[in-house]
Amino acid sequence: MKDVISVMIPEEEMKKRISELGAQITEDYQGEAVHLVCILKGSVFFTCELAQHIHVPLTIDFMRVASYGDGTTSSGIVRLSKDLDDSIEGKNVIVVEDIVDTGRTLSYLLKLFEQRKPKSLKLCTLLSKPARRVTEIEGDYTGFEIPDKFVVGFGLDFAEHYRNLPYIGVIEELGDERE
Ligand code: IMP
Repeated sequence: MKDVISVMIPEEEMKKRISELGAQITEDYQGEAVHLVCILKGSVFFTCELAQHIHVPLTIDFMRVASYGDGTTSSGIVRLSKDLDDSIEGKNVIVVEDIVDTGRTLSYLLKLFEQRKPKSLKLCTLLSKPARRVTEIEGDYTGFEIPDKFVVGFGLDFAEHYRNLPYIGVIEELGDERE
């Protein structure tokens, strides 16, 4: 049987909200340049879409961290498997994340970035699950606050599957087969 997935946030709603986030960032950084830090792999779809709606000079870099195994429960352990290519010193850094769940990953990363002396440091997250938070972390720019459900799509995965769904979906029933 295939997994059963329902739509939580449709594609059009996602795209509209992401364009609003881009417009807000454009307004906030007038006369400045921004450096987006995309947290791989989950944030890559969001970063690409967001970047197209930001109209100030923009650069992008990537970092890869892992805080989840193949299941749906946070391990709480953050493993940095790819560092940034460029220095962030003196730059207006916006960390782009797919979802802030417990906040453990971001709490670790923001401390790490702070030590590298950016000019400014902000967090832009597509999704936030406030009910799951165990840290003080909040996004400066947040797409959607969602209930405590495990979601997939638009970069978010379940055991590496479903990143390519163009909407945010909820796995209602786990089967033994993925699409
Ligand atoms: P946190 O450290 O608990 O905030 O977890 C952050 C990371 O966990 C995210 O970047 C995702 O990779 C993953 N994650 C948290 N919730 C979900 C979910 O509902 N679906 C897929 N991945 C999730």
